[in-house]
Amino acid sequence: MRKEYLIAGNWKMFKTGAESREFVQALARDFTAAPGLTVAVFPPYTALEAVRGLDPKVRIGAQNLFYKENGAFTGEISPLMLRDLAEYVLVGHSERRQIFHESDEDVNLKLLAALQFGLKPVFCVGETLSERESGRTMDRIQGQLDKGLAGVNEEDWARITVAYEPIWAIGTGRNATPGQAQDVHHAIRSWLNEKAPGNRVKVLYGGSVKPDNSLELLAQEDIFGVLVGGASLKVESFSAIIHSGLTLLNA
Ligand code: 13P
Repeated sequence: MRKEYLIAGNWKMFKTGAESREFVQALARDFTAAPGLTVAVFPPYTALEAVRGLDPKVRIGAQNLFYKENGAFTGEISPLMLRDLAEYVLVGHSERRQIFHESDEDVNLKLLAALQFGLKPVFCVGETLSERESGRTMDRIQGQLDKGLAGVNEEDWARITVAYEPIWAIGTGRNATPGQAQDVHHAIRSWLNEKAPGNRVKVLYGGSVKPDNSLELLAQEDIFGVLVGGASLKVESFSAIIHSGLTLLNA
């Protein structure tokens, strides 16, 4: 598969609307569009309106959704509400799974709802430290893929992205080595090829991605982008990561 990159910034519960707007404008000044490069940021819900349509080079995603179109679900946001504000949506981020107890079944319902409403889900998987240390990484990832991506229609694979984020590497400063990441990415790629032959689903790596490790991670054969947390909150570091992708695309 020819290399293309999605460089995505998950802002988690950071930035107001005004801060988000300022960030997107500054970021857009910092890089030039290039074939094969997509840049996206995932602000909190409350900032989506503020960044909508600001610059075509910076695509917008939401961090979560509920799977119903509307109803008595206090505090939830539906895919119908999101589709005018966001192009992408994170589904099954480990913080949603762990802190908010989302099950594989919840995640699957969210993924299918996102697809139904024309959004592009970024479906997240990842193992815990104890699963890695006991040699259960691939079992865990495969289980998440089997359950979370169940029932996807053939024509919908084109809108799906998968993000591999080992939980032990998130916010810890301890990133997977490029080799560890590549091994899991290769397994995910094989799973995808079996499930949807000919698909072009991008598989991103996430977990302590920084300007000083992004080039080596992005250079791995089966890594097609990164999902960046902490380092996406500053224009300087996020744009340095984007430039790693540009360097490789131009090589
Ligand atoms: P950090 O880059 O802060 O480790 O976060 C990764 C992440 O969870 C992105 O979704």
